[in-house]
Amino acid sequence: MEPATTGRAPVPRPVATFTARDTDLGTLTRALTGPVAGPVTLHGIPGVGKTQLTRVWAHQHADSYGIAWQARAADPLTAVADLAQLADRLDVAPNTDQETAAAAVVEALSGRQGWLLVFDDASPDAVRLLLPHRGGHVVLTSRSPNSAPVAATQKVGLFAPQPAAAFLDPHHVLPTDAAVRLAERLGYLPLALEQARAYCAATGRSLDGYLADYRQTAAAATRQLQCGHHSTCRYALRRCALDQVRRSARERHQLARQRRSPHQSQFL
Ligand SMILES: Nc1ncnc2c1ncn2[C@@H]1O[C@H](COP(=O)(O)OP(=O)(O)OP(=O)(O)O)[C@@H](O)[C@H]1O
Ligand SMILES: [Mg+2]
Repeated sequence: MEPATTGRAPVPRPVATFTARDTDLGTLTRALTGPVAGPVTLHGIPGVGKTQLTRVWAHQHADSYGIAWQARAADPLTAVADLAQLADRLDVAPNTDQETAAAAVVEALSGRQGWLLVFDDASPDAVRLLLPHRGGHVVLTSRSPNSAPVAATQKVGLFAPQPAAAFLDPHHVLPTDAAVRLAERLGYLPLALEQARAYCAATGRSLDGYLADYRQTAAAATRQLQCGHHSTCRYALRRCALDQVRRSARERHQLARQRRSPHQSQFL
């Protein structure tokens, strides 16, 4: 796949392991290019793959757009800042503040064709004033279907059991029983599947071994957090585990720096 555009805030590339979303991609194409095309909000639980889906779609359709741009839209300041970066490219609002530049970008886009804007993780406050009225395509991602003043919504669901198991077990034509079991236990959530697959590939741990570890960790954490086996909880658990790994890597790094220069301030 080619980059959707060049520039400072293009739509980033999707993960190389992207799979199993042909139907969703087709639905999004019809929603964006049909007779009543308008902005579309992709919604779904954390880690289900909304952001990845927009990235793949943007890169698959890169040839149709002169500009394909992603703005992080969880909060108004970031959304404005990301969109304002387009001002240079569109040759509007030179030497102004970001808010004026973003407004000029919205106006300029409304008057031309052939552009794609992706508002990732969009909140209503962030995108309310940033949606061009016509001329191109707008996709938003959000955990809630009601997070933007946008009529069309498309739900992104969990993987189906078979593709989920196949994703865990890419070396077998038919997924093994271990893959089927683990995929089910991970709730068919793409984020959790990806972490399991990457962990097993990196460590040589078997899928059944991962399942045993996971059962143990999840049981302990569920007791601690007093919540059920909802997929959002699983997501949180995996994020916690990742945070721990990152924390210990950071601590090791800091320790190594202190050893190299013991008299240096830790705030440098
Ligand atoms: N179709 C897919 N194929 C393979 N891996 C995927 C797919 N979709 C998602 N993933 C994996 O799951 C991870 C999370 O996906 P993504 O960031 O798109 O979720 P999200 O729904 O946008 O979550 P959030 O609500 O937290 O923003 C990705 O980094 C990727 O590793
Ligand atoms: Mg996302």
